[in-house]
Amino acid sequence: MARRYFTTPIYYVNDRPHIGHLYTTVVTDTLARFFRQQGEDVRLLTGTDEHGQNIEKVAKKEGVAPIVVADRHALTFRNLWKEFGISNDDFIRTTELRHRLGVEEIIRRIDAAGDLYSAGHEGWYCANCEAFYPEKDLVDGNCPVHGFKTEWQREENVFFRLSKYGPRLLELYEKGVEGKPFVFPESRLNEVRSFVESGLKDLSVSRTTISWGIPFPGRPGHVVYVWLDALVNYITALGLGSSDLTLYERYWPGIHVIGKDILRFHAVYWPAFLMSAGLPVPRQIVSHGWWLRDAKKMSKSTGNVVRPDDLVAAFGVDALRWHLVSAMSFGQDANFSDEDFLAGYNADLANGLGNTLSRAVKMSRDFFGGKTPSVRRKTTPGGPLVFVAAQKAGDDWKNSFEGYRLQDAAAAIRYLLGAIDAEITATEPWKALRQPPLSSEELFEFRSHVLYDCLEALRVAACMLAPIAPRTATEVFRRLGTDKRAEDLRASDLAWGLLPLDAPLPAAPPLFPRADAKEYFASRGAGTAGASKESSVADTKENISPSKQIPPSSPETKISIDDFLKIDLRVGEVIAAEKVEKSKKLMKMTVRIGEEVRTIVGGIATAYTAEQLVGRKLVFVANLAPAKLMGIESNGMVLAATLPETGEASLLAVDPSVPSGAKVK
Ligand code: MSP
Repeated sequence: MARRYFTTPIYYVNDRPHIGHLYTTVVTDTLARFFRQQGEDVRLLTGTDEHGQNIEKVAKKEGVAPIVVADRHALTFRNLWKEFGISNDDFIRTTELRHRLGVEEIIRRIDAAGDLYSAGHEGWYCANCEAFYPEKDLVDGNCPVHGFKTEWQREENVFFRLSKYGPRLLELYEKGVEGKPFVFPESRLNEVRSFVESGLKDLSVSRTTISWGIPFPGRPGHVVYVWLDALVNYITALGLGSSDLTLYERYWPGIHVIGKDILRFHAVYWPAFLMSAGLPVPRQIVSHGWWLRDAKKMSKSTGNVVRPDDLVAAFGVDALRWHLVSAMSFGQDANFSDEDFLAGYNADLANGLGNTLSRAVKMSRDFFGGKTPSVRRKTTPGGPLVFVAAQKAGDDWKNSFEGYRLQDAAAAIRYLLGAIDAEITATEPWKALRQPPLSSEELFEFRSHVLYDCLEALRVAACMLAPIAPRTATEVFRRLGTDKRAEDLRASDLAWGLLPLDAPLPAAPPLFPRADAKEYFASRGAGTAGASKESSVADTKENISPSKQIPPSSPETKISIDDFLKIDLRVGEVIAAEKVEKSKKLMKMTVRIGEEVRTIVGGIATAYTAEQLVGRKLVFVANLAPAKLMGIESNGMVLAATLPETGEASLLAVDPSVPSGAKVK
């Protein structure tokens, strides 16, 4: 079985994650899921990069130990990845012992190769990048990546003989690995090649100016340079430095997915370290572009970031996953705008997928007693049209993913959904009076054929959607009367004709309710994308239409603070959810509040699916007397706003970093 080991960069723990971080992780997860679906043995690693000057500074400012800051942010990342359905097999932190042992091992090997020596070192240092830059690379004296002031720093350091590896690196760029270019896309390979061709200087790999790092073996007072420390995570997580090398032998070398800002570290330093240590170089470095806001890289230091929290509260995790994957040409930069997000959401998810699915399901339920049709037609190479479209889309989808053209894989799904919609519009299966007229048997057969084809093509589209929006794919399968899960899919699931005949089709609310862009922009004051600093793309649903908000309560209904404090409001995490059978509105949730797990039933099933709830943190009334709802004992209540127009529930959003059990007041 083919094997593939994907890694994301490990994230700095001096900031909450923003859309840029999320992008790297979501695209890597999407690729990992795609190759698993193809039947490969895939491993996915992510984690946090916790040492270095930046974290030391933040901790000092907060008056706490650096590990306190690191713990907090590592938890935020872990929770966010869980919320986003990231299918990582491991999460490594550079403060773990297993990592330190691996770093020590690699340094031992590099030292044994004679590639370390001590020398004085001075140069222009960017504290943000944790890197020295030659004067010629500075822009007006500032860091070429962040535009920050650089400082002249002088140290007595341990050096790595990077210069020695120039020729071997150039050979690596020339030959690639296993017949594939070492860096993707090739334009980036050229950048790296010119950098190496212009001459490599030896690299300082220890620091004495900071103490928050891994002690450099045999050099008291020195800590390991943060990039050497960080890069090694890709193999310490596989067991390098321990006595159990099973994972290392099974999965290394891996494929590193990274942003273009950290290409040099991955395509120059990292293979050189590995060559020196006598270990295989990575299989490939896959580098993507940046999400921009106002034409600038979105980053904390620039202050122009979009956080995922509000977006997710308003539109759901998969809407954001879909946007990130489909709206950026992989490898290039793209601007993040509210308009694009909403347009894509409405066109692809609310309309393309949601509306097409509910039309086809509704007709099938109406004509075939709540089920899928009981007969279907044979396919030929030329038809029916949706079958031909599904085949073409499936091929395009696979080729696109294999070529890292993720946006084209998304376009193939869009194309198939368009073909299904066109088929429904062209055949008008709802019309009983037809030209030429059909007998009732013929009408039954005609509708069966058309609707089976459309539902089956929707099933194929959901298989293709699974790597990008896994929970949505699982939900589409459920709505099509099958119990497949995105995680169980294999390449063979794209074959035509797997939708069961006569399968019950559940009634369901809209999959992705349409967003009203006009109202949305009105509520935000003119829709100026990127106008606000630290802005979120979407406010929670109740903010969409401020003019329709419910008036404040009258003075008579005011309560004292003591009365209010009688209500024990807590953050809880939904660990399982299922719709209550025979009830339209009720959802049964298994909720963890601190240490305790309990059942809470809420009237939110018309607004949320079980999949949308699992993994989310919500606010609950924890001390409500138990009540029986449809025979189920509910021990608490979930808090949600009521949308004025539809009466639909909109759950209160909680920052994923808040621990379950935290008190709300
Ligand atoms: N800690 C290093 C990586 C060490 S890997 C051995 C680091 N961390 S980071 O948190 O700053 O960035 C992690 C990833 O987020 C990088 O791939 C980076 O490119 C990505 N992004 C951060 N901002 C981004 C955008 N605005 N757009 C897209 N991705 C960007 O670097």
